[in-house]
Amino acid sequence: MIVLEQRQKNVLVFDSGVGGLSVYKEVSALLPSLNYIYVFDNEAYPYGELEPATLIRRVSCFIDDFIQAHNIDLVIIACNTASTIVLPTLRQSHSIPIVGVVPAIKPASLISRKAVGLIATPATITREYTHDLIKNFANDRDVKLLGSTRLVDMAENKLRGCEVNLEELAEILSPLMNHIDVAVLGCTHFPLLKEEIQAVLGQEVVMIDSGKAIADRVSCLLDEKANTKEIGTREVFCSALPMEESALNVALNQLGFTPTQLHPILDV
Ligand code: DGL
Repeated sequence: MIVLEQRQKNVLVFDSGVGGLSVYKEVSALLPSLNYIYVFDNEAYPYGELEPATLIRRVSCFIDDFIQAHNIDLVIIACNTASTIVLPTLRQSHSIPIVGVVPAIKPASLISRKAVGLIATPATITREYTHDLIKNFANDRDVKLLGSTRLVDMAENKLRGCEVNLEELAEILSPLMNHIDVAVLGCTHFPLLKEEIQAVLGQEVVMIDSGKAIADRVSCLLDEKANTKEIGTREVFCSALPMEESALNVALNQLGFTPTQLHPILDV
């Protein structure tokens, strides 16, 4: 009888910056034995201010490169801004599962009794995809939209050890304060600021993100059961020299990653 040794599966997690780490945390907590490659396109950060065509070109380029070079079994586009626009293109050109992250409007509207606040990037709040989600799943709800790139920057800085300025955060979130009972964290950077956002909006506001749902989806697609006995490999690639590289590497090391490696993209 021939027994084939099963190789560990390789999962690619992609974002513009460190936000996708909030998704990685959930997925790797459930499935630690998989190998993870985290890729972020910091050269073109912030994605929330990019033209859709540029976004599609860049993301496709990264995903094509990495799928080929690293024998990837599943891709997570851990970025709402990219997912709301690039998923059809990626799924057309690859046969492996491509999992996206989109704002959790549906679960939020199911539990809200007052109004839902969608906190996302300036691009995500204007996307047709987002407006369709609201139309289809929250038509009878008041949904307040708040787009902010500054919040994304604050999350990048927090991961590198900087303190979050709560006064500034309160100023940014002021249009939602006292108006909502559920907040959708519609950008993967924002779960990194969850405690601070919760403190500003109030403990009674329920905060929802998509991390846990993505972890369950990955487990189902790869037919992987939680196996906490083995730990897979963890690598990080970025498209440009990262800001505060050593502080970033400290945070990445705490999540099990080896230091960042440079992977510029050539044909965009
Ligand atoms: N983390 C990303 C998202 O979920 C994008 C942040 C940005 O680069 O603007 O939308």
